[in-house]
Amino acid sequence: MASIRILPDTLISQIAAGEVVERPASVLKELMENSLDAGADSIDVSLAQGGVKQIRVTDNGRGISAEDLPLALERHATSKIASLDDLEQVRSLGFRGEALASIASVARVVLTSRLRNARHASALRAEGGKTGAPQPAAHANGTTAEVGDLYFNTPARRKFLRTEATEFSHCEEVFNRAALSRPEAAFSLRHNGRVISHLAAAELPRRAEAILGAEFAAAARPVMERIEGLALSGFVASPNYTRNSRDAQYLFVNGRFVRDKVLTHALREAYRDVLHGDRHPAYALFLAIDPIAVDVNVHPAKIEVRFRDSRAVHQFVYHAASKALAASAAHAPAAYAVPEEMARPAGIAGMMQGSLGIAQPVAGYGAMFSAARTAQRMPLPAGGTDTPRVGYDTGIGVPRGVPRDVYDGGTNVPRGNYDGGADVPPLGYALAQLHGVYVLAQNAQGLVLVDMHAAHERIVYERLKSALDARTMALQALLIPVTFNADRLDVTTAEENQETLRSLGLDLAPISPTALAVRAVPVELAAGDIAALARAVLADLREYGASRVLAERRDELLATMACHGAVRANRALDLAELNALLRDMERTERSGQCNHGRPTWFQMSLADLDKLFMRGQ
Ligand SMILES: Nc1ncnc2c1ncn2[C@@H]1O[C@H](COP(=O)(O)OP(=O)(O)OP(=O)(O)O)[C@@H](O)[C@H]1O
Ligand SMILES: [Mg+2]
Repeated sequence: MASIRILPDTLISQIAAGEVVERPASVLKELMENSLDAGADSIDVSLAQGGVKQIRVTDNGRGISAEDLPLALERHATSKIASLDDLEQVRSLGFRGEALASIASVARVVLTSRLRNARHASALRAEGGKTGAPQPAAHANGTTAEVGDLYFNTPARRKFLRTEATEFSHCEEVFNRAALSRPEAAFSLRHNGRVISHLAAAELPRRAEAILGAEFAAAARPVMERIEGLALSGFVASPNYTRNSRDAQYLFVNGRFVRDKVLTHALREAYRDVLHGDRHPAYALFLAIDPIAVDVNVHPAKIEVRFRDSRAVHQFVYHAASKALAASAAHAPAAYAVPEEMARPAGIAGMMQGSLGIAQPVAGYGAMFSAARTAQRMPLPAGGTDTPRVGYDTGIGVPRGVPRDVYDGGTNVPRGNYDGGADVPPLGYALAQLHGVYVLAQNAQGLVLVDMHAAHERIVYERLKSALDARTMALQALLIPVTFNADRLDVTTAEENQETLRSLGLDLAPISPTALAVRAVPVELAAGDIAALARAVLADLREYGASRVLAERRDELLATMACHGAVRANRALDLAELNALLRDMERTERSGQCNHGRPTWFQMSLADLDKLFMRGQ
């Protein structure tokens, strides 16, 4: 065996590069972070062949002096920290002083920089760890780092590179993260000479839309929460906008993109109550925390952090996100839009009535629609009858033939003032029930479609939750108890858990060794399937025991109860009941999703409907 020896510097850097410079995207990340640390507000990225052939990053930051250039490429040379104290309070993205040295050990690097107000720029070349001498060069204020032929001297690593397209997509992701972290800076990205992205300096909402897309922006709900030492800002997407992977989850801690279990878990929990099955939520969130309370030096690529008090961070993030997601329908009507497929005329080709010769009346119907918008009476289409004008004649109004007072719907909407549109509640007034399943309603924007059962289920669920929390579960005694056959275990379970059952609003009494009677249920559930409800609760109690049922199983159980108690499809409701449902939705948190995370309602604006009919195209 050979004797112990000190490794040469270049080899040390190459070993370090194994951790930091995993692929072209990791080089790009380090270079962009250096630019951001240098205070740049304009960063241009140019890549060739997925970044393997070349990565060039140009910034307008503070620059590096000619004397310092060689140091920038040295290992353990940094301008960002000088002591352990500095490290513990670090606010910059870099601090190890090894990124450029690592990169220079496995690629050809040219660093060109001009310190602000310097007479000229200087350039320095390094190749496989060998650095030349600085040469005078031409460059505006700022720095350009060029990295070419990645792994030219380490063929084993080169083999691990994927296709150009894959490497590029990783680079693009790194670019997007940086761009999202600093909306106030301008960014551009080119690949093989083509402009891929050009982002002007903007506010966060516009930047988030540019990176995450218009659908995300339409579904985004702002988060802005602050406590001592912690602040969370950014956007969470309404649960109606989800993805089938985690690709739209952006978390930043003090401006640094991180993958963090504590934060991810807190968000997962916040969405738990409203997210459908195996879908993934979308968000762009920025946590600001006292640097002393977070350790960023736990991962070579600094993509993980460790919080001093991870419980406190978890709680804070969970509450902030839950609050943003809990906003009821009344507060977020704009977040609901017609799904893209519905708005695209191609998708409804089968529904078009081309052969019916409707060209002629179009003008008349147009007048009718503009009447709806301007709340002015317009003449009927020639030869038309009164019927199509139902609900349109006063802008936002009461359908004909329906007594106005049913529109009270549980809230005190001022009567006799329906034509202005100003008093129309967010979800509007019910027009009808469709096939016993959907409620059609008219609000200021246009048509509202509600899944009756799904919406009621959420309302009941939220009420049960607050009633249980406040220990105010209101019981309704049943005139005729509902009896059902049960096995012996169910009967003993009922006997042994009277107190738990009561707290859940159920009065269950054994009437024989194999039969149970339900004598009272929570008021909200009295109209539901009571035997099924009691069976479901007993099954849960048997499986998990009373204490777990009331603790960790609580929400699942209440959701099950709500499902059995909510109005079933095919139950005919009158307009007053439908309106009461709409008003309840407006008052209920998370009412945009049913207990299984499916949407409960959609808005179809008049513009959406126009698109559907290709009106004005
Ligand atoms: N674009 C740039 N503009 C100005 N200075 C730069 C730029 N890039 C690098 N530097 C200087 O070079 C030094 C070394 O950069 P390098 O990325 O190797 O280390 P670091 O950023 O200090 O730490 P880390 O290894 O954590 O990234 C920096 O500390 C900084 O002073
Ligand atoms: Mg760096």
